[in-house]
Amino acid sequence: MMSKTKIIGHRGAKGHYPENTMLGFTKAVEMGADGIEFDVHMSNDKKLVVMHDESLDRTTTDRGIIKDWKIFDLKKVKTGIKFRNMSKYNHTWHRERVPELFEVLALFAKENTVLNVELKTDVYEYEGIEREVHHTVATRGMLDRVVFSSFNLATLDRLKKHDPNVRIAYLVNELPEDYEQMMEAHDFEAYHLRVDSALENMEALKKNGIFFRIWTVNEREHMEQFIDAGVRAIITDYPDLALGLRDS
Ligand code: G3P
Ligand code: CA
Repeated sequence: MMSKTKIIGHRGAKGHYPENTMLGFTKAVEMGADGIEFDVHMSNDKKLVVMHDESLDRTTTDRGIIKDWKIFDLKKVKTGIKFRNMSKYNHTWHRERVPELFEVLALFAKENTVLNVELKTDVYEYEGIEREVHHTVATRGMLDRVVFSSFNLATLDRLKKHDPNVRIAYLVNELPEDYEQMMEAHDFEAYHLRVDSALENMEALKKNGIFFRIWTVNEREHMEQFIDAGVRAIITDYPDLALGLRDS
């Protein structure tokens, strides 16, 4: 029997809660999401920082570039306040701080949640990030729960070289023509494919749905299409909506 499409909360539950925060991750899993997706960068003192942008400017109370900051200072930055226009906002969001990777892992150590760790190496390479991320996950015995993804193929190849057993997923805006050969050559577990390209490649999805997690799927109609096509997962800002459709 085909297994159910998994529902993965994008940056937590980005449609309802501040992105890439412990609050957002907790809420996504409370909603029933099968997993969460989040982004990792490296600070100046080589700590693994969970945030989407390279810069602090959009989502935090400070300004600057993550790679120039020490973790001690990054921890003073607030990550909930900028989202005070969201309907679920309340004053406790002021407590949100930049999570480190180990904190997110600890939060879900006792759950079955799938963790999609995106290594954000497409602007800065963050030398050594692959080994650091791998070490942090491996020492907590959580490698079997984690899928590593990246837009940077060299990052994925480095991870795989370091540990051939890790699950890697290639993040792409467009489906490569030779996607099946590439998959074999690099030993991808899956493609993480952008929603518009996925819609243009529904036949490939129907044939090989198991190879694909689709991002970022926020429209009800698209959720239904991908669930029907049997894709492995959809990554969405609204896990509650997707779960309702999948389980109805
Ligand atoms: O992992 C899927 C998606 O998160 C990739 O795009 O920009 O939201 O990190 P972005
Ligand atoms: Ca991401």
